[in-house]
Amino acid sequence: MSTAIPAGEPDSHATAIAAERRWAWVVIAIMALLVAMMIFTGLHWSAMPPSRVETVDVKTLHLKGEFVESNLGTSIENDGKVTVRLVAQQYSFVPQCIVVPAGMPVTFRGTATDAIHGFIVGTTNANTMLVPAFVSTFTTTFPHPGEQLMPCHEYCGTGHEAMWARVQVLPAAEFMAKAKPGERLSCVPR
Ligand code: CUA
Repeated sequence: MSTAIPAGEPDSHATAIAAERRWAWVVIAIMALLVAMMIFTGLHWSAMPPSRVETVDVKTLHLKGEFVESNLGTSIENDGKVTVRLVAQQYSFVPQCIVVPAGMPVTFRGTATDAIHGFIVGTTNANTMLVPAFVSTFTTTFPHPGEQLMPCHEYCGTGHEAMWARVQVLPAAEFMAKAKPGERLSCVPR
């Protein structure tokens, strides 16, 4: 049997090799691009420190400053902003029940006393870690009134799964009627 290629016909073997080679270059180009992206983002982010790091002294947290127990809960600041201050410890949050208004920006400021904790509020995007000696802060808006559960979501020890708080989202008017300037609001039964 003859394998000779008729004159004028393209060599199918050579065509296959050429196609294979083209694809090899495409794949090499994709890999080079991905590696370049990894190197660029790695260098870029290592050259950019986090935008803001706020520290707090764990040893005096309960004695003075922003996170003393009497200052925890929800407050209306002098500039009218709603701020929630909370502390996480093994195995509870203080306060255990947090009141916030619906439809208004709420700023959370929290820290931890003993281990790394964290929380997420129900189905909302409120979600942060709480790390001893650091202040975690974020601002979010709760669109709908209602009650949400707030579990600790960082494994913090044997009582981790029992570490919960509740968040009561009140209609804004009801919240504003309850909130008095300078007072700290919570829904912990007294
Ligand atoms: Cu606190 Cu898990």
